[in-house]
Amino acid sequence: MTSRDEILHALEGVIDPELGRSVVELDMVRDVVLDGGRVGVTIALTVPGCPLRASFQEQVDRALLPLEGVEEIALSFDVMTPDEKAALTTKLRGGVAERTPGIAVDTKTRVLAVASGKGGVGKSSLTANLAAAFSRLGHRTGVLDADVYGYSIPHMLGIHQRPIAVDEMIVPPVRGDLKVMSIGFFLDENTPVMWRGPMLHRALEQFLSDVHWGELDTLVVDMPPGTGDVAISLGQLLPRAEAVVVTTPHAAAQQVAVRAAQMARKTNMRLLGVVENMSWLEREDGTREELFGSGGGEALSREVEAPLLGRIPFDPRLGSYSDRGEPIVDVEPEAPVSRALVALAEAIAATKREQGIGIVKPLPLVSA
Ligand SMILES: Nc1ncnc2c1ncn2[C@@H]1O[C@H](COP(=O)(O)OP(=O)(O)OP(=O)(O)O)[C@@H](O)[C@H]1O
Ligand SMILES: [Mg+2]
Repeated sequence: MTSRDEILHALEGVIDPELGRSVVELDMVRDVVLDGGRVGVTIALTVPGCPLRASFQEQVDRALLPLEGVEEIALSFDVMTPDEKAALTTKLRGGVAERTPGIAVDTKTRVLAVASGKGGVGKSSLTANLAAAFSRLGHRTGVLDADVYGYSIPHMLGIHQRPIAVDEMIVPPVRGDLKVMSIGFFLDENTPVMWRGPMLHRALEQFLSDVHWGELDTLVVDMPPGTGDVAISLGQLLPRAEAVVVTTPHAAAQQVAVRAAQMARKTNMRLLGVVENMSWLEREDGTREELFGSGGGEALSREVEAPLLGRIPFDPRLGSYSDRGEPIVDVEPEAPVSRALVALAEAIAATKREQGIGIVKPLPLVSA
């Protein structure tokens, strides 16, 4: 007959999908009661009515049913006390090397800031799909929607649940293997963002440092478009981030994109490279039509002296899938646009990550 210790041991394999750690390790297992072939288990959750109950049920069944003599499992849930939550917060924070002020991610996590000189170039679409692509490549990936003007990532990734707050720590909702956090979760949808200057900076700082990402290999950040104070504030709060600047093929788009590249460097980000989006429409027969001009990506790359990391074709389906909350990279991985996005993720992964700040050459353009 299986003992209580054996049951606890088996429960070590049950992982809280959002916190990413074992329920045993996190002291979430309240109670184990053995009664003949019947095992009663109580798990204490951070919030009542947690949407992940089904996942716990399935995992607990999978862990315990194979044990000798276990015939029936009664799983029930409880809510953590304030003391338990405080202990959990301490436990989760432990091990993350501080890199304050600013975002609380481990120094080993690669932070990619997806920036653009102006809106509408496909920054959010690329962020969402790039994150999905990194996840496909096996990276533990997070997405941070930091666009205070037009947060769109939760919609594009079909995230409907709100983040969970444990004490002062905010736990990002998950979508499959992706962790997703948006500043939009904390803004009133009907009021435009009115924060300015130091207030904005403090609010962003608070938001960034309170989010608990756990262990991540890559965090992709959708930056606010442009080079205004919000973008600069954010840049300062993402130390050691690496910037990817998105532009369109149109020659005129390049001037504004140069400013974004320059801003990235000013806020001590490493400028990783340039991505050209909507480069061409690929027809069924394999021919290409350049809808929005050509050469923008290459010209920008030359001007800011950073590599052109990828050119992403135009595909109307990308937008339709986004509206349904699905990255095209996941739904149609064989589509040329998806292949280009995964190739972009690979190209980024291949660039050697540099911890240090610098390698910054002065830019040909002076004013921002
Ligand atoms: N490669 C692509 N193929 C087809 N449509 C695209 C592509 N990239 C982006 N789009 C579409 O272009 C529009 C703008 O994209 P997106 O919202 O990602 O841009 P953005 O730069 O984040 O804009 P904003 O400044 O408003 O945040 C969306 O309708 C999106 O579906
Ligand atoms: Mg956007």
